[in-house]
Amino acid sequence: MKLSLPKRKSKQAEPAVADGDAEAAAAEPGPSRSEKRARKIAAGKHHSAEGGKDVAGWVDSRTNSTGIYTALLARHVPKGTNWFYTLGSATMFIFAMQAITGVFLAMYYTPSTTQAYASITHLTNDVFMGEFVRGMHKWGSSLMIILIFLHMGRTFFFGAYKYPRELNWVIGVVLLVLTTVMGLTGYLLPFDQRSLWATVVANNITASGPVVGPYLADFLRAGPEVGATTLSRFYALHMMLIPGLIAALIGAHLFLVVKLGTTAPPWVKATRPKGALGEETVPAGVPSPDDAEVPVGQAAASEPTPEETPVSEPAADPADAGGPDAGNAGEEPADPGAEPADDGEASA
Ligand code: HEM
Repeated sequence: MKLSLPKRKSKQAEPAVADGDAEAAAAEPGPSRSEKRARKIAAGKHHSAEGGKDVAGWVDSRTNSTGIYTALLARHVPKGTNWFYTLGSATMFIFAMQAITGVFLAMYYTPSTTQAYASITHLTNDVFMGEFVRGMHKWGSSLMIILIFLHMGRTFFFGAYKYPRELNWVIGVVLLVLTTVMGLTGYLLPFDQRSLWATVVANNITASGPVVGPYLADFLRAGPEVGATTLSRFYALHMMLIPGLIAALIGAHLFLVVKLGTTAPPWVKATRPKGALGEETVPAGVPSPDDAEVPVGQAAASEPTPEETPVSEPAADPADAGGPDAGNAGEEPADPGAEPADDGEASA
């Protein structure tokens, strides 16, 4: 059966409307130009929701990867941000390198007291680029410890541990401990004389710790002496548990960095947000929008006077408080209530 083609009548009317021929449009009743435009936009939206024009659009419409990219890599950072702010990312990069090189090492390593050393010797001497990958992993572990301490120093000296970033500091401390545990557990894996006796010493030091020390040492040794069971335990901790925890905590750490914004350097003087009260009427803290309704120079009858107000933090300057507005340091934000991460000057 032959299907009849649709009539061309309506198709001919379209260019007339598009050309702005008002008479033709009036003669042929149909959707107006604005209606057509609205339909076109709606169709475009529908199209992108269905998949987009390319693979990137298709993935983006389902994952909002553009939003993740913007939040992580194109976020606003305060004025004065410098190379010291790259130390956290450098630590993260080294962690990623450790994970990648570790996977290749695991392809050749045997976690057995009799075969561990031989498997590593084989990897170093016989496997293509084995010595290089092992060297990267070994030097990378030291570099990660150095970088993590430098990053911690930066956040400490820039006051980034203060409100509201205390939780990120605590997560950082846990990351630091876990990174040192990675170093300890990895050191035993070659199971040569040096790694064996270094682990015996480390275990004895752990056992001398207060309260939990002996229990922790027993748990790590996994037996009366450092030996085969210790090696299996260290291997499992080094390969699975600790890297998993570090990866999850880095995720939480970054989430908080994006959510709270970055602390401005201490030498960048913050300007007061637009609409905030003068300093003489604000004894401590950043004024809330409710405070702004009190006329300048007049405290409400029920409000405590500046002398009565308890001062917990010398925080008249938002940057000094390390608060969310610290990201605004050095400029007047357009919207005082806006997200802190959006108010900075430069993009990361
Ligand atoms: C595996 C270890 C770690 C990784 C991968 C990591 C990663 C990062 C990254 C990428 C940032 C944002 C950029 C920057 O400010 O450098 C950051 C910020 C931060 N990190 Fe870490 N970090 C780690 C360990 C630590 C440690 C040990 C501490 C402190 C004890 C810490 C405390 C902080 C704080 C407070 C911030 C916010 C900085 C700000 O707002 O200016 N981090 N971290």
